[in-house]
Amino acid sequence: MGAMNAVEDVEHINFRLVAVLKLSGELGEDALNALRDFVRACNQTLLKKGVPESGRGAEIVRFRVLNEAERADEAENVDEAENADEAEKASDVIPGANAIEVEIHSDRYVRAHDALLRFRRNLAGVLGRYRIGLRGIDVRTYEIEMDWRDEVRVKSLPFVKNLSLSDGKLRLSLELSEREIERRIPDRILRLLYEKREMARWGGKKEHWELLFESERKEILFDRDPAEEMIRRCWIVHGASRGQWIYGPQITRIFRAFERILMEHVCKPLGYHEMIFPKVVTWDVWKHSGHARAIYPEAYYVCVPKTRDPEYWEDIADYFKITGEVPTDRIMERIENIGGLCYAQCPPFWIFLRGKTIDDDCLPICVFDRSGTSHRYESGGIHGIERVDEFHRVELVFIGTKEQVISHAAALRERYRFIFEKILDIEWREAKVTPWFMAQEGRAGVASDREVGTVDYEALLPYSGKWLEFQNVSVNGDKYPRGFSVKLRSGRELWSGCSGVGLERWAAVFLAQKGLDTENWPQSFREIVGELPEVFKFV
Ligand code: SER
Ligand code: ZN
Repeated sequence: MGAMNAVEDVEHINFRLVAVLKLSGELGEDALNALRDFVRACNQTLLKKGVPESGRGAEIVRFRVLNEAERADEAENVDEAENADEAEKASDVIPGANAIEVEIHSDRYVRAHDALLRFRRNLAGVLGRYRIGLRGIDVRTYEIEMDWRDEVRVKSLPFVKNLSLSDGKLRLSLELSEREIERRIPDRILRLLYEKREMARWGGKKEHWELLFESERKEILFDRDPAEEMIRRCWIVHGASRGQWIYGPQITRIFRAFERILMEHVCKPLGYHEMIFPKVVTWDVWKHSGHARAIYPEAYYVCVPKTRDPEYWEDIADYFKITGEVPTDRIMERIENIGGLCYAQCPPFWIFLRGKTIDDDCLPICVFDRSGTSHRYESGGIHGIERVDEFHRVELVFIGTKEQVISHAAALRERYRFIFEKILDIEWREAKVTPWFMAQEGRAGVASDREVGTVDYEALLPYSGKWLEFQNVSVNGDKYPRGFSVKLRSGRELWSGCSGVGLERWAAVFLAQKGLDTENWPQSFREIVGELPEVFKFV
């Protein structure tokens, strides 16, 4: 993200903050004098510390003491003071003074909210001598103005009550509590803005895509959409839910043949062990995996009842018994969202290792899961069995040192190549793309570490002339061990990778190229799949 910092450096930005610091006692003449001296010292040194020659840092441009009555005034009559000299004159002793209002201006160095925290930290010592303590901060106003060409139209942001864009300037008016200042929320808002702009700049370009390998052209035996043919033959029937199929005995047999190939030619020789990963994924997992950054438009949300008490639900059940309708809107009020259904398959596995230290002896660890469905709300994109909301995938996860993970990914790709060349005999290619976790976190581009990344497998769909991604192999670097605090006993860096094998996608590709008639399939695959069962007869 070096480029982003460069942009930040040349840009103009300023911060203006008005805050009231509440005190535990009354400020007398002596304390006020000490306060004046302290403000001067702040403007000369404390708020300038760490500021380079070219910068200005922060400055308390105005301060005054307030009593209860004036505090209630909500900073209505603020006289604009533009420099520190005025700030010193601004305050006189008043009866019952138990708060200090400061106005702080800054550039990018010692941002005004950091200046406020520095001021508070040191003020405690100054007022302590007069037995006056600090009682919390009210942030009255916080305005940020920055250069912003209108490449990104930001309409609203959390904690920003007003946002306007004109003359190449973005103006934000923030609404913050003391706690949010302490959590450096303003810094996070700015980081988010820079990130949105970075994304928009990438947006014009295509996602990263770089060809690594391409198979020979293969004889095309079929030129129709295999999904339509499968529907005609009743191999698949739409399920009751959107983007969901009921897979009949023939296609299920094909899926299981794919799984057997995977077991025989990948999992067994590479030393994989089967595990069962959860399929309800909580926000806790998605916060650590990064999915909480972007998953919202695609998640299948999971909710639980607010209570299991049958009485609480009786009227809902009664309503259905009488009307035959399920009152979903009323159900919504009685349930609570806890996360969603499995989306990327490997993230919930990491709870198994969270916070643990692994013995180096057991590396590399290779495990896989094929215990359930994955779900993505694909909206308009649903097509055939190649783009569905509910799909079946075998997910391979490998964990080891950096060298182990990188060499394992290479071994895995070798094994896959054997399958696609020697068993399925399809036309396919490999491409290095934006790492899946970055794509799923809504980040563009490539990982900063060249060795981290996703290789997508794509195959030609003759009926449309398009290439379909049907599986991937990824080296995820230290992302997951770091995200879930997993360590190695030796202290060496722990890496991981994963590979998702989509059964629907394999079928979509294979059947699109070879058709549904088994006599056209490669002998190697026919032997594995055997006879397709004919079970249902319809009249
Ligand atoms: N977890 C990876 C993904 O979601 C591989 O399945 O793409
Ligand atoms: Zn994965």
